[in-house]
Amino acid sequence: MEHNKRILSGMRSTNPKLHIGNYEGALRNWVDLQEQGYEMYCMIADWHALTTMFEDSSVIGRNCLEVAKDYVSAGIDPGKSAVFVQSNVKEHAELHLLFSMTTPLGWLERVPTYKEKQADIGGTEREPYGLLGYPVLQTADILLYRPYGVPVGRDQAPHLEIGNDIGTRFNRLFSTDLFQPYKYMIPEDENRAKVPGLDMRKMSKSYDNCIYLSDSADETAAKVKSAFTTPTKIKLSDPGIPEGCAVCQYLKLYSPNWESQWQEDRDGVRGCMQNKRELIEILNEYLRPIREKRASISDDDIRDILHHGAERARVVASATMEKVRSAMGLLP
Ligand code: TRP
Repeated sequence: MEHNKRILSGMRSTNPKLHIGNYEGALRNWVDLQEQGYEMYCMIADWHALTTMFEDSSVIGRNCLEVAKDYVSAGIDPGKSAVFVQSNVKEHAELHLLFSMTTPLGWLERVPTYKEKQADIGGTEREPYGLLGYPVLQTADILLYRPYGVPVGRDQAPHLEIGNDIGTRFNRLFSTDLFQPYKYMIPEDENRAKVPGLDMRKMSKSYDNCIYLSDSADETAAKVKSAFTTPTKIKLSDPGIPEGCAVCQYLKLYSPNWESQWQEDRDGVRGCMQNKRELIEILNEYLRPIREKRASISDDDIRDILHHGAERARVVASATMEKVRSAMGLLP
């Protein structure tokens, strides 16, 4: 049962750069799974990016190259794992279309992420048809590879559930066992699952509060210096509240001594400046190998990696599509 060891995951190419929240919440898991010997399919979802960015479609291709560089810099080894762009493997579109015929509309209207995005857009005259189908496309992405598991950030849980429901329904409708339920691989470590932004809000490009994997050491230092700390801690001796301080949150994630650092911060025997200085040092050391790797990858290298990744993905995807067409009774 070699297909039991396959893993599929992906991120949208809405932004050119991944941040440390993307890394801790998802990408780092992919690297671990790769090292454990799983056969990894690491996708960049450019069609999904279009559901919200159809007016800026011209940047999406460039974003794909940059995101792929982040994947590889973070440790995805193109010799072991397939790194590819969704739109380069047309089978994703075909399976999406077929699932769009079998998926009840009510299931899609109930997805919480859909309701949120729909509210942002304001009015069905502006809302693209593709937004409702977002989880259907994501299900096609996943089930094409009939994976053992799907490692994603916590926000993706509703999409994973509907995916297994769509697969089960397909099996029932067409009397097949083609799609076995896959596992939801969501990080359990609370700190890694939820990395706050520099201002303690959710880390997001739109809030301009991210530390990116591709930031230089100086950029990272400047960002940490301006990060949100305990607002009532003016002097070193004022008591800090580490739970609400972005710098302390990052120390908890990255510093082996975070417990004593937190205690001293609380007790007023340590200042925010010292916390920041120590964090800058630790964080830059942590990100150094990723930055060095990134600097060594050219555009041509990454295009090559994506080309080969798509070829490998297509082998699995086209085999699944043959089985799908046959189960449904479509002509081969
Ligand atoms: N929806 C995911 C996100 O926003 C991206 C994605 C698309 C995905 N297709 C996928 C994730 C398949 C896992 C599996 O990040």
